[in-house]
Amino acid sequence: MNQTFRALRIHNDDQGYRAGVEEMQASALTPGELLVKVAYSSVNYKDALAGTGKGKILRRFPLNGGIDVAGYVAASTDPAFKEGDSVLCTGCGLSETRDGGYAEYVRLESKWTIPLPAGLSLRESMIIGTAGFTAALSLYRMQQNGQTPDLGPIVVTGATGGVGMLAIDLLTRAGYSAHAITGKTGQFDFLIELGAQQCIARKELYWGQRPLENAHWAGAIDNVGGDMLAGLTRVIRPYGNIAICGNAGGIELATTVMPFILRGISLIGIASAGTARSIRDDIWQHLADDWKPRNLNKIATKEAGFDELESIFAQMLAGDSFGRTIVRIG
Ligand SMILES: NC(=O)c1ccc[n+]([C@@H]2O[C@H](COP(=O)([O-])OP(=O)(O)OC[C@H]3O[C@@H](n4cnc5c(N)ncnc54)[C@H](OP(=O)(O)O)[C@@H]3O)[C@@H](O)[C@H]2O)c1
Repeated sequence: MNQTFRALRIHNDDQGYRAGVEEMQASALTPGELLVKVAYSSVNYKDALAGTGKGKILRRFPLNGGIDVAGYVAASTDPAFKEGDSVLCTGCGLSETRDGGYAEYVRLESKWTIPLPAGLSLRESMIIGTAGFTAALSLYRMQQNGQTPDLGPIVVTGATGGVGMLAIDLLTRAGYSAHAITGKTGQFDFLIELGAQQCIARKELYWGQRPLENAHWAGAIDNVGGDMLAGLTRVIRPYGNIAICGNAGGIELATTVMPFILRGISLIGIASAGTARSIRDDIWQHLADDWKPRNLNKIATKEAGFDELESIFAQMLAGDSFGRTIVRIG
């Protein structure tokens, strides 16, 4: 393919760190068996860090941004895929070591490319994207460690963000009672529409400082880290699980051994980008079927083009995210 196409390309060189829309050719893309015509990408917190240089996400330069991508195979050297197949990829080095999804074309490694599962459209797969995959991976690993709906409610922090909203929706779909902690008290009604059984204002949280406080929840999906995560360790019921997804509120964790040796709680680390292929396949099957969030169209609060990404990144890093932004490309 010789024609030029548009991409949001990120540079870090003598002229400094910068991202902007450029024309490029497929011959300049990082290699892969599949050339994919991109239909949609999405915006995750990591994309905002990469696009602004506020976090060290890219490990080589220049690269196209976008850790998520969905589109159609335009050419394949792997017989497992043929022209026209609908595919998606999240994480797996996109916008870290490989060109990502903020481009009209991307080359993907076939070993990390997921055929679009029946039950999802390309657009829906990108409303879910890394955020929904991360929420689902959290539930998957919590269940592997014994979490079941009858143990009690699961609390979700950073509830109005992408991971948070999708976690509330898919927990509800999977039969759990989801509770929400948010800094945006004006969005309680919205979170209840997604399935939250109870909403708590972040500012009004007070759990006490003893190593063990009254246990409120059977588990947690935490996007915030820092004091929030430390507090959660003190209020999770015996043998409950906390899936640690994010650090929107800090990277420190000050706690004691007491919740672990007296209540048997578990901290489960979630690293979506490096998830094994077999687990990826299982999770996308769940997301297309029994865990498919019921409110994807509500959660997709914005559909953006290349030109709007800069302001969306800034809003996200300021903690003002609300739901998922999908990026319309094809
Ligand atoms: N481990 C992984 O594999 C993985 C994958 C995806 C994302 N993540 C991480 O998960 C987190 C959420 O990602 P996302 O894409 O959902 O981001 P997002 O859409 O920006 O959501 C983050 C949410 O966190 C809350 N928040 C923001 N700043 C905060 C602060 N200073 N203190 C407390 N809460 C704050 C806000 O929710 P409220 O206003 O409702 O409180 C915000 O909407 C990020 O830290 C991201 O890096 C990790």
